[in-house]
Amino acid sequence: MRKVVIAGNWKMHKTQAESLAFLQGLMPQLEAVPEQREVVLCVPFTALSLLSEKLHGSRVKIGAQNVHWDESGAYTGEIASGMLTELGVRYVIVGHSERRQYFGETDETANRRLKAAQAAGLTPILCVGETKQQRDAGETDAWITGQIKAGLTGIDQSNLVIAYEPIWAIGSGDTCEPEDANRVISLIRSQLSQADVPIQYGGSVKPANIDDIMAQPEIDGVLVGGASLEPDSFARLIHYQ
Ligand code: G3P
Repeated sequence: MRKVVIAGNWKMHKTQAESLAFLQGLMPQLEAVPEQREVVLCVPFTALSLLSEKLHGSRVKIGAQNVHWDESGAYTGEIASGMLTELGVRYVIVGHSERRQYFGETDETANRRLKAAQAAGLTPILCVGETKQQRDAGETDAWITGQIKAGLTGIDQSNLVIAYEPIWAIGSGDTCEPEDANRVISLIRSQLSQADVPIQYGGSVKPANIDDIMAQPEIDGVLVGGASLEPDSFARLIHYQ
């Protein structure tokens, strides 16, 4: 049976004070989360230590949003895997489309980051997804197939989560039809050697559509931006039907 992973990606949002206020709202809503659901919050580096401490022993695991491939070195602005594990971080997002678009991330650098994360015992969440232009040109399947092949070269699939995030659906309110996301995720799964890799959907997930998304047989969770920033909204996603 595949694990379900409900993960929030706060991106560049929330100071420590704001993170604490979020926790106050979320904590009372963590009871009765079904056992097989993994709940993850991928927060800014500056909130990792605080949230890791406050959520220790709770149902929520902490994730980062990036990790470098070297253990240390002259890489201004980057973060090493050991710096994350030391804080109790368990997950890390790798190759998010915003990293690819604004910071030159490629399949090759994502692959190196994945390897470093796994070597440190972190569970990486590899993001893939096509642009609107690629979708309209009928290139989605070929593009996703290429991203998965290049990203997963030499990767241990026993400690991995994949997130299918169509770029045009991110932050746009324009969700991919659940059946369509299910189809692409099934295509991704057909490329994997291991059957139990959780594959999430990401892109304008919210309380109003979570139940339909999670009703799809191939979708094993969600990676959520905007709707993970508010405790009641995130709690509703965790408690999907
Ligand atoms: O990683 C999550 C993400 O890119 C989706 O963002 O705001 O559309 O849920 P959002």
